[in-house]
Amino acid sequence: MIERSKILLEVKDLVKKFRYGLFGFEFKALDKVNLKLGEEPSICTLAGESGSGKSTLAKVILRVYKPEEGIVLYRGKNIYELKKSEVKWFRKEVQAIFQDPFASFNPMRKIYSYFQETAKSLADIKEEAEINKVVDDVLAEVGLRISDIKEKYPHELSGGELQRVAIARALLTKPRLMIADEPVSMLDASFRVSVLNIFKQVKEEYNISFLYITHDLATSYYISDYIAILYRGTILERGPIDEVLKRPLHPYTKMLLESLPTLDLRKREYYMHPIRLSQIEEKEFLATGCKFVSRCPYAEEKCKLQAPPDKIVNNSIVRCWLYHK
Ligand SMILES: Nc1ncnc2c1ncn2[C@@H]1O[C@H](COP(=O)(O)OP(=O)(O)OP(=O)(O)O)[C@@H](O)[C@H]1O
Ligand code: SF4
Ligand SMILES: [Mg+2]
Repeated sequence: MIERSKILLEVKDLVKKFRYGLFGFEFKALDKVNLKLGEEPSICTLAGESGSGKSTLAKVILRVYKPEEGIVLYRGKNIYELKKSEVKWFRKEVQAIFQDPFASFNPMRKIYSYFQETAKSLADIKEEAEINKVVDDVLAEVGLRISDIKEKYPHELSGGELQRVAIARALLTKPRLMIADEPVSMLDASFRVSVLNIFKQVKEEYNISFLYITHDLATSYYISDYIAILYRGTILERGPIDEVLKRPLHPYTKMLLESLPTLDLRKREYYMHPIRLSQIEEKEFLATGCKFVSRCPYAEEKCKLQAPPDKIVNNSIVRCWLYHK
């Protein structure tokens, strides 16, 4: 995303393959994905249609899936070659927030027990009084008090409250990076802004960076510093959010923005309209050339045959042959 000497996260030429269908046909759910987050706390949106590979990339960065090609460096370390002690360090530093807060908590377990467990196992806090103190601090950060959750089970809170609890719990380990996969898409509109505001606030106060995954450009514009546009497993354009949304380079980004007639780039609060999604076209995942070729008005023969490499244009990086002329 940005060129700095110190890099928090660097994803280089990542390829993740899956098999699908009766005959186990192989396709690249991620195809030479590159992404960089600097040390300075920032919020980077990973935007893309359903099935574009957003969650797959999140899972690779969280060490759930091992990629077939490429590497992920977290603070300079290859996350798939960590020593045992470094795995614990990585789990403390990189936390995840998922789409459905109710799925993240066992309905039979009191919420507070999750805080106790995380405090003991990852934050190395053993004393009950100290746990109470730090839990109170992190809950205050998300607008809750310990008495709001102490005796409660997950179903006794609203989705918005439970998502705030999930963020508070993640804060316990003092992470440097949070991977938030569609964290507000299941919440009522009234709760969305409050959760997104918490991201902005903890970015500043706790120096935490976010990879904010969404198919909603509206919310991404509201909170992000950077954006990467994923399409059929390929990042087609990435750069500062204002640059990409105000002066899009890639034909796909332009098309996305044209489908948002109400987008007013002067008023961030109004960007709460989701982008329209199209159906996944498997043949685009399998394309050897540009993944966007079948929908691109500028497509040439070369686009079908060869995938364009990344090219720096202004402050963005774009993957399109139009910028190699
Ligand atoms: N474990 C898996 N095995 C096989 N195929 C998978 C697996 N996980 C994801 N896929 C496929 O990889 C592609 C990318 O899926 P992914 O879940 O990463 O998309 P996404 O962008 O997160 O979509 P959504 O917005 O719907 O959450 C899809 O075609 C999906 O069907
Ligand atoms: S590489 Fe070719 S097909 Fe792909 S977006 Fe650019 S012009 Fe269109
Ligand atoms: Mg997903």
